Amino acid sequence: MSSAPTTVKIAILGPGTVGTEVVRLLERQRDDLEARVGAPIVIAGIYVRDTAVPRDPAIPRGLLTDDADALIASADVVVELMGGIEPARTMILAALERGCAVVTANKALLAAHGPELYEAADAAHADLYFEAAVAGAIPLVRPVRESLAGDHVRRILGIVNGTTNYVLDEMTTRGLGYDVALKRAQELGFAEADPTADVEGYDAAAKAAILASLAFHQRVSLDDVYREGISAITPADVAAASEVGLVIKLLAIAERTEVGVNVRVHPTLVSATHPLAGVHGAFNAVFVEAEAAGELMFYGQGAGGLPTASAVLGDIVSVARHKALGGKGPRESNYADLPVLSIASASTRFQIRMLVVDRPGVLASVAAILAAHGISIESVRQHHTSDRAHAEVVISTHRAPERDLERTVADLAASAVVHEVLSVLRIEGE
Ligand code: NDP
Ligand code: HSE
Repeated sequence: MSSAPTTVKIAILGPGTVGTEVVRLLERQRDDLEARVGAPIVIAGIYVRDTAVPRDPAIPRGLLTDDADALIASADVVVELMGGIEPARTMILAALERGCAVVTANKALLAAHGPELYEAADAAHADLYFEAAVAGAIPLVRPVRESLAGDHVRRILGIVNGTTNYVLDEMTTRGLGYDVALKRAQELGFAEADPTADVEGYDAAAKAAILASLAFHQRVSLDDVYREGISAITPADVAAASEVGLVIKLLAIAERTEVGVNVRVHPTLVSATHPLAGVHGAFNAVFVEAEAAGELMFYGQGAGGLPTASAVLGDIVSVARHKALGGKGPRESNYADLPVLSIASASTRFQIRMLVVDRPGVLASVAAILAAHGISIESVRQHHTSDRAHAEVVISTHRAPERDLERTVADLAASAVVHEVLSVLRIEGE
């Protein structure tokens, strides 16, 4: 005769934007969650640095503790929602070593120390779940890790950072300045505590590393990801893009080629008719191209306390069910050993915006520099500027290797006819 499943005890570390919503939903939906888990669930405690700080009313004061070790020792499931590397890393390792299941939304930690965490989980035969770490509420980790485990993923192309999509979208659709749009994203709770992680592309790069690791069955860390943020994007870049039916998006791109994998994050021009151009506000969208499945698209809220809590709750139900009834989630799959390629090996179309000296023969000189590097021009536009001595020239190229482009831009910048290279943006998705 089997005994009734025992209560699953859940420890929450960090009742912030996401943690508060997780606690609220755990309490509000307890009956449904218990039915789905197949056992009673209880919040064993909520770890904070300072128990005296005023908190959201959803956080029961009696559950607060500043003793993380004791809380972890009493738990079956540890839910880490503090963010950052330490003390999150040490606490997750302590939890895994004790055999606790761990749920985390911490992409920065996973991208930097994923292998160490996976190995600790494996050694303890414990679950490590992280659906909320990539694209907030969107079920993406599980489809890539489990549903596509029988297929070959070729390419992932997506908007995985809500803050930067919000900022670029506000600049594009409402003509807002960068600083105003960013401040609003912070007020709405999309941005990380330090928005540098968002606007300089670190957050998207961490997510790209996690997705590439899962999709290509090999270890890809944050250091393997080429990264450019959006802080250098100007209203003039946005205007030059819309003039020819393009919009600027911060894309995470992970590609498997004949010779290795290429993972990068950078501002990208996409056609205004491309589905990614229609992703507004803080929404995220991710295309996955797999050999047998073909093209898949995932879309939804990629940030915010409540949407992210949905993904965390899904993981809590899965790991709590394993605790109550047995079973175990997937382990790390890292058998592939493809080289991680540098950005120089990528090949895309480019748009180069520059200020040139306004006199006869200048365009011919510019074209000669591109031709010398084997780069084929697709279109050229020229605008007058308020300064009569210079003109703005915008050149779009056909597809060209990144390493050729780098040399071309260096030669353009050094040329006597080019006053300044204003921006270089990649064009994708055509
Ligand atoms: P917040 O900054 O809102 O909350 C973090 C919480 O952790 C706060 O309660 C904070 O306590 C606590 N905390 C931070 N550092 C420590 C520490 N050293 N010791 C103890 N407690 C600490 O973060 P979010 O809720 O926004 O994010 C949590 C995690 O979820 C991060 O990994 C983030 O990347 C991820 N995430 C966030 C999303 C979002 O939209 N916000 C979306 C997807 C993932 P205190 O109040 O005392 O400062
Ligand atoms: N700061 C992140 C974003 C939160 O803007 O997308 C989700 O990871």
